[in-house]
Amino acid sequence: MAKVKIGVLISGSGSNLQAIIDRIEAGTLDAEIAVVISNEPEAYGLTRAEKHGLPALVVNHRDFPGREAFDLRLVEVLRAHGVELVVLAGFMRLITRTLLEAFPHRVMNIHPALLPAFPGVHVWGKVVDYGVKFSGCTVHFVDEGADTGPIIIQAVVPVLDDDDAETLAARILKQEHRIYPRAIQLFAEGRLKVEGRRVRVLPLDRSQDEAALANPRLED
Ligand code: GAR
Repeated sequence: MAKVKIGVLISGSGSNLQAIIDRIEAGTLDAEIAVVISNEPEAYGLTRAEKHGLPALVVNHRDFPGREAFDLRLVEVLRAHGVELVVLAGFMRLITRTLLEAFPHRVMNIHPALLPAFPGVHVWGKVVDYGVKFSGCTVHFVDEGADTGPIIIQAVVPVLDDDDAETLAARILKQEHRIYPRAIQLFAEGRLKVEGRRVRVLPLDRSQDEAALANPRLED
């Protein structure tokens, strides 16, 4: 299977980036990280990228007069690296039409709550304070709103009585590391079809496989 070239945008720790790297290195994600970009010069995710020999660079939003100019530079860098899919992984900047028009239906984001509940930032404490019994995480295509784009995959976790923001965030993060690589793999397999707000997951196309049988049967 052809590998999809991804550009990963980060602002911080980069544990989702690490999960993606690990899946690629394990051979279970048909992607190649063409570039990692951080808007924060001190982001630990940059070190993770470097440890794995990945091209990593800083595009600091503070160096630009506004969001459009910042996004124009991002588009330039992403294009220069041949990126086909933009993966926002803890990227704490709102992106503009400039980036979205350059990569239509090709920008994904992960959010640490069950959208459309609890959009925005620092949501774990809000989830605990509200008293909901379940939360989770969502991978979605990005549109012009904040955390409003079509949903690709979600995972649910319980909110426990003695949770605080930190314990809940840790429980959710484990699931983020499972669903983000999965969403990217579905994209790589050409199986995500956006129909308005809904993202349909097409069945795996086996038409190119050889019609071979094995006995005893092989495990998929
Ligand atoms: C993750 O929990 C991600 O869902 C969240 O930031 C964290 C980044 O962690 N993203 C947002 O809140 C986006 N609004 P990481 O840097 O370890 O991947």
